Amino acid sequence: MRTMKAPVLLVLVLTVWLNSGDCAPSSFSSSSSCSSPPSQWCSSLDSAVQCGVLKHCLESNFTRSRQTADPVAVALYYESLCPGCRMFLVNTLLPTWVLLHEIMTITLVPYGNAVEKPDGQKYTFECQHGEQECLGNMIETCLMNKTNAIQIIYCMESSYDVIKSAQSCLEIYNPDLKWDEVMSCVKGDEGNQLMHQNAMKTKALNPPHKYVPWITINGEHTEDLQDKAMTSLFTLVCSMYKGDKPAVCGGTQRVYKSYCHNE
Ligand SMILES: *[C@@H]1O[C@H](CO)[C@@H](O)[C@H](O)[C@H]1NC(C)=O
Ligand SMILES: *[C@@H]1O[C@H](CO)[C@@H](O)[C@H](O)[C@H]1NC(C)=O
Repeated sequence: MRTMKAPVLLVLVLTVWLNSGDCAPSSFSSSSSCSSPPSQWCSSLDSAVQCGVLKHCLESNFTRSRQTADPVAVALYYESLCPGCRMFLVNTLLPTWVLLHEIMTITLVPYGNAVEKPDGQKYTFECQHGEQECLGNMIETCLMNKTNAIQIIYCMESSYDVIKSAQSCLEIYNPDLKWDEVMSCVKGDEGNQLMHQNAMKTKALNPPHKYVPWITINGEHTEDLQDKAMTSLFTLVCSMYKGDKPAVCGGTQRVYKSYCHNE
């Protein structure tokens, strides 16, 4: 009995911790039949029911069907170990996306100031912060190719060690995807080609990037857009969205700075 207790407790603590992070009511994910990660709860009627979030999903599907305009496309050109990139991704991009995912899309291109050289049919890469950064860029690239990786990348970038945390982050957010499958992409031709595509996307930037994090909004980069994105992406996305604005855009307060009070 003793040996069983610790893991069970750990799972409970983890569940409570994950839920408290976004102020979700405790009924969320309380059902043991809910096996999918939060990003997929609304993907089908069955999983919505199993995960106890049917009402939420129907409402958010309703909001989506009301949507009249194109979402605001936010792209981030970055490097996995660049401190400014990590700060923007963790403190600004993800919190904004959590609130505004119905009116924005995110594209992540991990490459930045890396340099590629052709080597036969393949490429070799040199990264600004060394080989570990190349590895981090590659893991994130392969994850994005295999799953909806935004939360896994957030988890990695907010951890003390971006690379070492990768496997646990995957296990938390997408236990169905095997780490071995990700690593065979990382080490193989597939990852090499995907990273080459990141290099080409980065080289195609107009104007060319001068630093990272480098942000484009609807494919466009200006100093003004960059500044606004860095200081308040939330306000920028709300103001650029041309359709009916979601309620969270309403006030002047940035809602994710509010508190969860104990009653
Ligand atoms: C929400 O919409 C998607 C796409 O239109 C659909 O596949 C899904 O079943 C809907 N979910 C619910 C809970 O109605
Ligand atoms: C993953 O990469 C392969 C090429 O290796 C490509 O054909 C496929 O479209 C990519 N999938 C996604 C979701 O990016």
